[in-house]
Amino acid sequence: MNPKHAARRKATVHLLCGLPGSGKTTWARRLAAECSAVVLNHDERMIARHGPNPPESEFTRFAAAVTEELWREAAGEIAHGRDVILDWGFWTRAERDDARRRGGEIGAACVFYRMRCADDVARRRTLERTAAGTRTAFEINGAAWDLFRAKFEEPTADEGAVEIE
Ligand SMILES: Nc1ncnc2c1ncn2[C@@H]1O[C@H](COP(=O)(O)OP(=O)(O)O)[C@@H](O)[C@H]1O
Ligand SMILES: [Mg+2]
Repeated sequence: MNPKHAARRKATVHLLCGLPGSGKTTWARRLAAECSAVVLNHDERMIARHGPNPPESEFTRFAAAVTEELWREAAGEIAHGRDVILDWGFWTRAERDDARRRGGEIGAACVFYRMRCADDVARRRTLERTAAGTRTAFEINGAAWDLFRAKFEEPTADEGAVEIE
């Protein structure tokens, strides 16, 4: 490729959509190696700031602050022409629409990936991870996983998500 064209390639924000245990973080690492991207993991940053079991009453406020922090970092990477991977879950259409808008505002192309994983597999992996007490992921029990499942809004065809099996 002509280096001038390479330099002008639009940096990309890769957004991972999937429930806990669906394989987002595992796959993010693989994608990061392929496209020399920086991974920004919302849960890991939350745990670094507030521990693996933040108080329910503060969760939304803490999460919003981490979201702002990570978007600032994403903007910095994109401005330098580097791809970023947002390993965040993006369970609702509103969150995905907001991310597409913000990606556009920082001058990035946006690609959503839908992690395809059977519910029973993702749930079992999550419970195993919680039991192992890794402290790199939130402590999610079965009831919480089921609640998240109920909140999850499947991306619709018009969102053009890339399916990851
Ligand atoms: N494709 C896969 N095949 C088998 N195990 C996987 C696969 N992807 C992830 N795992 C395992 O499942 C668990 C959860 O994966 P993770 O990537 O942390 O999911 P998420 O980030 O979506 O919560 C981890 O123990 C990981 O090793
Ligand atoms: Mg993860």
